[in-house]
Amino acid sequence: MSAGRLDGRIALVSGGLRGIGRAICACLAADGASVVITDLDAADSPDAVAAIGTIENASYIRLDATQEEAWIAARAQVERDFGHLDILVNNVGSDLTGKVQDLTLADWRRLMTLNVDTVFLGTKTFQPLLAKAGVSTPYGSSIVNVSSIMGLVGMGDVSAYNASKGAVRLFSKSNALEFADAGIPIRVNSIHPGFVETPLLHQGMARWAERDGVTAQELIDGMAATTPIKRLAQPVEIGKVVAFLASDDASYMTGSEVVVDGGWTAR
Ligand SMILES: NC(=O)c1ccc[n+]([C@@H]2O[C@H](COP(=O)([O-])OP(=O)(O)OC[C@H]3O[C@@H](n4cnc5c(N)ncnc54)[C@H](O)[C@@H]3O)[C@@H](O)[C@H]2O)c1
Repeated sequence: MSAGRLDGRIALVSGGLRGIGRAICACLAADGASVVITDLDAADSPDAVAAIGTIENASYIRLDATQEEAWIAARAQVERDFGHLDILVNNVGSDLTGKVQDLTLADWRRLMTLNVDTVFLGTKTFQPLLAKAGVSTPYGSSIVNVSSIMGLVGMGDVSAYNASKGAVRLFSKSNALEFADAGIPIRVNSIHPGFVETPLLHQGMARWAERDGVTAQELIDGMAATTPIKRLAQPVEIGKVVAFLASDDASYMTGSEVVVDGGWTAR
């Protein structure tokens, strides 16, 4: 087997069983990392068993990323099993659309918990193990936070998601500066996917289709038509960029926002 750029590195991905998270796990593993996949499912669930079976050197921890105790328990397990962590990908997130007047405070808080608290908790909990790994790695360890193009530009009826993903973008930048200023060897970057074919996207399209009296496929075709590249992304196209950011190939990148959107925000 040829040497991979992440050989010997330990990575943890939140929400790693499906969609973009699953592809990130596969791409990190393809580059040689040992990947700790985390998600809501039980360890003996069909998706968890399938992921461990198909992704090389992968292990699984059940982790509800909104719960601080769950993060602390996961850190204890990673410390016991590996001693340190080289790569953290804060991927968990969901969507929410609707006019401000139609959203409830409970809807808003649920989304902020899922999209923003999870990034804060992952970073806070794993900082010590990432810093430990970073001192013995030439260019430090790496955090990649999954934001969105909706963290860069606004869109009508998307205010809650816009706010949450904008928060992830700026949290990443201030975190990158905090670590650099203190000499803590952890690079922090955010990634901003455009429209990606995942279970989340399909569920969202099904809801919109019902509301608007069209088919989900018509909505998906419409999204592709508004994208300069004229198609949606496949999750692996995001996973490969995350693997790059996690690797020493991105050694001079921290506080960066990396857009992977088929040209959507270029206009
Ligand atoms: N799909 C897109 O078009 C798109 C575009 C830009 C950004 N994103 C972002 O990418 C990330 C992944 O999105 P996706 O489309 O792959 O979503 P998805 O819903 O298809 O997959 C998300 C995964 O996270 C898990 N999960 C949900 N809540 C969790 C929790 N509390 N703790 C642990 N795991 C949890 C789910 O079980 C699932 O496996 C999200 O942050 C999303 O906002 C998605």
